[in-house]
Amino acid sequence: MTANTLPFADRTVVVTGAARGIGRACVKTFTNGGATVYATDVNSLDETADGRTDHPGTVRTHRADVTEPDDIAGLADTIDGDIDVLVNNAGIVERGPITDREGWSRALDTNLRGTMNVVAALADRLADGGAVVTVTSVYGQSGRAERAGYCASKAGLEGMTRSLAAEFGDRNVRVNAVAPGFVATPMNESLLEDEELMASFRAGTALGRVGEPDEIADVIRFLASDRASYVTGETILVDGGRAALEF
Ligand code: NAI
Repeated sequence: MTANTLPFADRTVVVTGAARGIGRACVKTFTNGGATVYATDVNSLDETADGRTDHPGTVRTHRADVTEPDDIAGLADTIDGDIDVLVNNAGIVERGPITDREGWSRALDTNLRGTMNVVAALADRLADGGAVVTVTSVYGQSGRAERAGYCASKAGLEGMTRSLAAEFGDRNVRVNAVAPGFVATPMNESLLEDEELMASFRAGTALGRVGEPDEIADVIRFLASDRASYVTGETILVDGGRAALEF
């Protein structure tokens, strides 16, 4: 593909939570499409930046905590020009009962408040024709014991997505979300070792397997692209058919 046929050539993309997992897969797919990607994370981005040159894009890294307004202001200062795509991916999972106030506070702070913090800081920089894609979860639409904070944060992000689609529509900025099912990422490292649990997760999908980070990044890339020019305010499940099954 020559430079002028690359779908994201001359486009600026911001990806939060880009140090690993789904965020790092997003950096890969957008740079493959020719984008300049600002990859940001609270943790080291060395492996994201790590000398990959087999793509036509550019990666710029910046350490920032999405919950810290000053960090996000610093990120905004490093970005040249307008932002074509903002991928809100940074997130944490917290497991614990409702009495674990610190746990659900952390989930809400990072996933919901952190994401809103980033969008608020970068909203004025979003380009005409731009797109915001937020990573929610199947748990934004279903529940699970000891996940109240996580589920509430992800359901909240779906509400944010619908509202921002209305708020940004007259600027020709689309706002959508992707809701993954179980994906093999470092977030789930300990669960991946539990063969019995994994068998039940696989059995709970129509496809009989868990997802890979690239499979989520591909749908994010579609929603961010001109191919999705009439899609806004939507959440797309990418769950191997988990929500399609009845148990
Ligand atoms: P991960 O744990 O592998 O990666 C998350 C990244 O976010 C990490 O690099 C982490 O350092 C970063 N991060 C966490 N808190 C941050 C903060 N305050 N500021 C900046 N960066 C921060 O997780 P994974 O699986 O790649 O998850 C990405 C997104 O996908 C999350 O929002 C998660 O909730 C969501 N998701 C993941 C699923 C899965 O099965 N892996 C399923 C459904 C949703």
